[in-house]
Amino acid sequence: MNILQITSSIKEKNSHSTRLAGLIIDKLKGNTKATVITRNLRETALPHFSEIHLKAFANHQETDTVEKEKIIQLSDELIQEILDANVIVIGISMYNLTIPTMLKSWIDFIARIGKTFRYSPEGSVGLIENKKVYLAIATGDIYTVENQLHNDFTGNLMRAQLAFFGITDVEEFRVEGLAIPGIKETVFDRVVESLEEKFRLPENV
Ligand SMILES: Cc1cc2nc3c(=O)[nH]c(=O)nc-3n(C[C@H](O)[C@H](O)[C@H](O)COP(=O)(O)O)c2cc1C
Repeated sequence: MNILQITSSIKEKNSHSTRLAGLIIDKLKGNTKATVITRNLRETALPHFSEIHLKAFANHQETDTVEKEKIIQLSDELIQEILDANVIVIGISMYNLTIPTMLKSWIDFIARIGKTFRYSPEGSVGLIENKKVYLAIATGDIYTVENQLHNDFTGNLMRAQLAFFGITDVEEFRVEGLAIPGIKETVFDRVVESLEEKFRLPENV
């Protein structure tokens, strides 16, 4: 199994989303042979999407400028990492109600017409097939309650974006309430329990 881990926290150490992603990966590995490739977006520091990216993606030529070449090369590399993986685990830290800016840049770099999506007379068609994605989301507050669902722009945004690329087999795990006294202390205990439940082998197998 080839696992691609996408890390998006701004923290070098003690990132809760990275820790959660690690727990998911441990479960995925289980007793099977697995390779884990990590794309740490804090270290890669993708530049914000700008006109030069648009031009590079829209009308890339063999003889293009060095700057455009670099953009295409990095974009191709990021897309290839996805294509090479069977399973992708994306760590998502909620900052100001949404995904980290680095993760948005990653999306901007992999959204390539003819490579990850195309348009048909019926609308957009995702071109990435046969991937399983786990979202590992960390939030200070709690969003999986009815009066907060509409304020969460992490899980829904990622699901919509991944679906646009053709990836619809998406599951999410959350550590939430990390800023709330009385809740934060046991958040990881609870997620470990739900991971145990999810990855428990069926009896008699
Ligand atoms: C700049 C900043 C903005 C944040 N905004 C929110 C927010 O809007 N909602 C929320 O529930 N938590 C928010 N938090 C808390 C983080 O979601 C929480 O600390 C989480 O653990 C971050 O993930 P990480 O540990 O992987 O970096 C924010 C934290 C920071 C540092």
